[in-house]
Amino acid sequence: MSDLRLRVSGTTDLTPTVRRFVLRDPGGSALPAYDPGAHIVVTTPAGHRRSYSLVDPDGAQPREYVVCVRRDSGGRGGSVSLHDDVAVDADLVVSPPVNRFPLRPSPRYLFIAGGIGITPLRAMVRRLRGQGRTGVRLLYLTRSAEETPFLEEFDGPEDTVHHSDDRGLLDLWPYLAVPDDDVRIYCCGPAPLVRAVQALTAHWRISRIHVEEFAAPHSGMSAPFTAVWAPDGRRVDVPAHLSLLAALRRDGVPVASSCEAGVCGTCRLAVLGGEVEHRDSVSTGGERLSSVVACVSRARSAEIVVGPYDGGSP
Ligand code: FES
Repeated sequence: MSDLRLRVSGTTDLTPTVRRFVLRDPGGSALPAYDPGAHIVVTTPAGHRRSYSLVDPDGAQPREYVVCVRRDSGGRGGSVSLHDDVAVDADLVVSPPVNRFPLRPSPRYLFIAGGIGITPLRAMVRRLRGQGRTGVRLLYLTRSAEETPFLEEFDGPEDTVHHSDDRGLLDLWPYLAVPDDDVRIYCCGPAPLVRAVQALTAHWRISRIHVEEFAAPHSGMSAPFTAVWAPDGRRVDVPAHLSLLAALRRDGVPVASSCEAGVCGTCRLAVLGGEVEHRDSVSTGGERLSSVVACVSRARSAEIVVGPYDGGSP
């Protein structure tokens, strides 16, 4: 399905840094359907392509898409462009909805949101509670009440909203210590939170754990590493300032790409050795076990062995 040109019909500041954008077809037509967990890829006025989760729970016959964007002045400019360059009545090019973080059936759920990671989880929690479901527990971790979008929606008996500025980091272990096959865990947030949840649920059945991590491409925390191109054993130095994709190309390895922002998956490579620091927002849990999105992700180990990706059987 091709991209859509949608009009911004309204904006609301939910917090000092989070703005809600409502997008509609200029002619009033219905939009492609979606389920909770879906995102759209928005092309900003400055030309960045960024994924944003659809925050509303009912996407069966949507007349509008609603996304919430946190302005990250230390980022690469996508969120700043949306905040600073987009007003009501502006037109934006967006992809049709894509869902790589679908809500699976389960007797009960534990949702863990970190900051703006609430966006896909809000759609899921509201969908389930709107169906009258109980056993839909939410842990919502933010810095402060002021920086907590949708705070007023989550004050029920199954909600825990925790502000680290007031009370330090929340100890997640009491919530995760006992594995339960009747519970699915969905976590969305920054990489340290997602990694903590993955580490603390290592004793759970892996099919019960669903995570979506924010991309943090080219962050200042990058370290250099070596990539070995498996087909010919070529060793490629990847310095801190260069992506794996760019370093491979510099040394003559042809790798296809499209968005170069970790949202389309075109540049995916098979991983045959080493440990990956995933920074993309396109991979499923299974894909993360065997592949790397070369435009944004990096090696966590000193060396990584990569090769062409053929869909999961390297
Ligand atoms: S080129 Fe789109 S994810 Fe890398």
